[in-house]
Amino acid sequence: MRRWRVAVLGFCIALPALAISIEAGDGRWQANVPSGARQRPNPMANEASAIAAGAKLFQRNCSSCHGKQAEGNAKHPDLHSDRIRGATPGELEWLLKNGSLKNGMPSWSRLPEPQRWQLVSFLKSLN
Ligand code: HEC
Repeated sequence: MRRWRVAVLGFCIALPALAISIEAGDGRWQANVPSGARQRPNPMANEASAIAAGAKLFQRNCSSCHGKQAEGNAKHPDLHSDRIRGATPGELEWLLKNGSLKNGMPSWSRLPEPQRWQLVSFLKSLN
């Protein structure tokens, strides 16, 4: 009887843990960012218009996966998060440029670099 209870309890603990581990986006990409890229400042950080420009780029290129409000879904991470808040602008630009291809995040190297920084301004404005 006791063992049976332990098994049920174990299952109740394991199930939510599993759900968390399969949630979209595990943030492992962050460990791959070279330190030079990590430290690059956003050259558009002080341009008020960068956020609005980034918001437009987001609707065009990103909202199909991440949602119109960047709220995410089961397969695509919510971009209002501690990870995005804590990430440096350089880390975010690096991710946009390189993508996280095996996890389904495309590379945005075809966008001109200033547009990627506008997207970074937008992402930071969410947080
Ligand atoms: C085809 C679907 C798709 C599109 C389009 C897409 N993304 Fe993603 N994105 C993903 C997936 C899947 C991940 C999770 C990748 C990972 O964790 O390795 C992700 C991860 C991210 C992350 C990191 C989130 C985190 O919590 O680690 C950011 C930031 C991001 N995307 C921004 C963007 C921006 C900005 C655009 C548009 C330029 C965009 N994405 C377009 C699928 C997409």
